[in-house]
Amino acid sequence: MAVRPIRFVPDPVLRQKAKKVTSIDSSIQRLVDDMIETMRAVSGVGLAAPQVGVPLRVAVIEIPGGEVIVLINPEVIKREGERVVEEACLSVPGYRGEIKRSAWVKVKARDRHGRNVRLKGEELLAQALEHEIDHLDGTLYIDRVESPDKLQKLVSEPSQEEL
Ligand code: CO
Repeated sequence: MAVRPIRFVPDPVLRQKAKKVTSIDSSIQRLVDDMIETMRAVSGVGLAAPQVGVPLRVAVIEIPGGEVIVLINPEVIKREGERVVEEACLSVPGYRGEIKRSAWVKVKARDRHGRNVRLKGEELLAQALEHEIDHLDGTLYIDRVESPDKLQKLVSEPSQEEL
């Protein structure tokens, strides 16, 4: 396993629509292991493959106190409600913003063994699922900030969970 360098805005890989994984082979296993190690090394709660320069539909999430979730080709299949959240992204260092996210989401994906999984999440997990799947479509949370005053430059270390 290895920690891979994080890509920051305006790296074009962050704006690409990532490609579906067609075969969960050893290179995907290595990518997943490296992404988990990288996410932990930077104390993130989620990481999408484009953030380490790989334009494939792979993401990992680890909510504090929860298990690692590996998502291959994830899709949101249902979302409900709305809540205002503070959000920050490892690829947009030094900022946080106020945006709207779903209160609840249901996602389908494959796990690292290729099994079909269904996952429901609320609160931070719903936020992380939407944030990481956004990354796979080349969307960043800053695109969802409704007005410039809702994007804040941080003067100290981030207190926000970074995704
Ligand atoms: Co992010």
